Amino acid sequence: MKHIVKKFPGVDALKKVDFHLEAGEIVSLIGENGAGKSTLMSVIGGVYKPEEGEIFINGRHVTLDSPAVAKMNGIGYVHQEPTLVPNMTGTENLFLGQERTNRWQMTDSDYMKNEAKKILTQIGITFNPEKRVKDMNMVEKEAIEIAKAMLQSPRILILDEVTAPLDQIGVEHLFQVIRELKKSGIGIIFISHRLREIFQVSDRIVVLRDGNIAGTLDPGTSDQNDLIQLMIGPDSCINSVSCTSRVGDCGQELMQIKGLNCNGTRNKVDLVVHKNEIIGLAGLKGSGRSQLGMTLFGLANSHSGQIFMKGKPIRINSPSQAIAHGIGYIPKDRQHQGLALIRNIEENINITILKRLSGVLGVLKNSRLAQNTRELIEQLQIKTPTMSQLVNFLSGGNQQKVMIAKWLVMGLDLLIFDEPTRGVDVKSKADIHSLLIELRNQGMGIIVISSELPELLTVSDRIIVMNNGVISAQIHHQEATEERCLQCMHMSLEEVISIEETV
Ligand SMILES: Nc1ncnc2c1ncn2[C@@H]1O[C@H](COP(=O)(O)OP(=O)(O)O)[C@@H](O)[C@H]1O
Ligand SMILES: [Mg+2]
Repeated sequence: MKHIVKKFPGVDALKKVDFHLEAGEIVSLIGENGAGKSTLMSVIGGVYKPEEGEIFINGRHVTLDSPAVAKMNGIGYVHQEPTLVPNMTGTENLFLGQERTNRWQMTDSDYMKNEAKKILTQIGITFNPEKRVKDMNMVEKEAIEIAKAMLQSPRILILDEVTAPLDQIGVEHLFQVIRELKKSGIGIIFISHRLREIFQVSDRIVVLRDGNIAGTLDPGTSDQNDLIQLMIGPDSCINSVSCTSRVGDCGQELMQIKGLNCNGTRNKVDLVVHKNEIIGLAGLKGSGRSQLGMTLFGLANSHSGQIFMKGKPIRINSPSQAIAHGIGYIPKDRQHQGLALIRNIEENINITILKRLSGVLGVLKNSRLAQNTRELIEQLQIKTPTMSQLVNFLSGGNQQKVMIAKWLVMGLDLLIFDEPTRGVDVKSKADIHSLLIELRNQGMGIIVISSELPELLTVSDRIIVMNNGVISAQIHHQEATEERCLQCMHMSLEEVISIEETV
């Protein structure tokens, strides 16, 4: 790939990127969220057409203007987002859209079943692909995704963050698969956030930063710290904006967590959240950060340990109990968990307090509802023609604001946000950050869970790093840097355990 340029409205996602891959080579493509990794892969995968640049395969100039053309050119692409249909079997998913027919033009299920088994054997994972995807474990689902990409016998295989949902055993299994494919001469581009593990499989590590190639590392002669340096760059000083609008120190203790164990894992979490404090929860996917957020809102299957709110021991076994104790939660998957998309803004905002607002006979006080909504639309700067606009038609940023408004009307003490600005435009992102700090200044305690370190460094009074289900570091915002956080996020399990013992 030569001089690839790809722009989105407001973002130059790729700025003249050069990239090459040899047959039988495993290249890890590394970079922080938003660096441009998936965009670069989408360009090879025929999903995006670059504004500038050229692509050569086996020395031949190619124009990959659709995923189908990319496939014909030998590109197999396992996307970052899952693509399988849960209610169909593994085999049905493999052949979706490319079903084979026999000579009577009937679906040839025997052929497809055999072929599915053959590919899975080839990649070294044996299980029955005739079960439905929803009954498969993570490794099996990932195997079907890879098998789907392998169906066309690609020469280049792209694996975009396939390790994220896998545990240690799953990752080792996947690495075996990758090494087998390498032997057969396939070139592999491997994208992962697991910095320690990529050193085990890569022939070469390429680092992207802000749409540029930041550098290339030889895994034999470099280590994780070299990699972190390249990812964050020489002048990463995002801490600057942080506390401009932050007023005063943190207040009294709001919530205390003692020996909390979520869902029977070996972890025990101790944590204090104060009034006027934003806590940033950092960690890789699967480190336990989202699990902790869900547990504090009564969404975990089971937990043990103690939780105190303003000094009083409380139980949180359901969201309604959490809300009764003044705790709110905004999930990362707001489309599916948080908003009624086919309802209007007013209904969404007030849904949680309808009971409180109904009069003696259960009649809704419409004027109160409307007043509430008007005030919040103004406070949060929600861009909408009217408050009866269906939430479905709002932009991601404005949907997120409606979600926040819905919780603010309840006057809670503690809000937990999982990925508050995922998929949100730059302006709304800044709005949401200022809003978080404003709420903090008004006395709320806030827990922000985020995959974006710059975001955490911007809003947090204190950053808590989770790793393997335990807290591996607590860093005050003045001492917090991306480098420090990344190091704690990527510690090995042994290092985490030794920290746990010394604490
Ligand atoms: N479809 C899109 N529309 C607008 N902006 C996008 C789109 N896809 C990616 N971007 C932006 O391009 C940049 C690179 O994103 P991406 O390639 O997904 O990064 P990575 O995979 O390294 O996390 C980010 O700023 C992202 O917000
Ligand atoms: Mg990506």
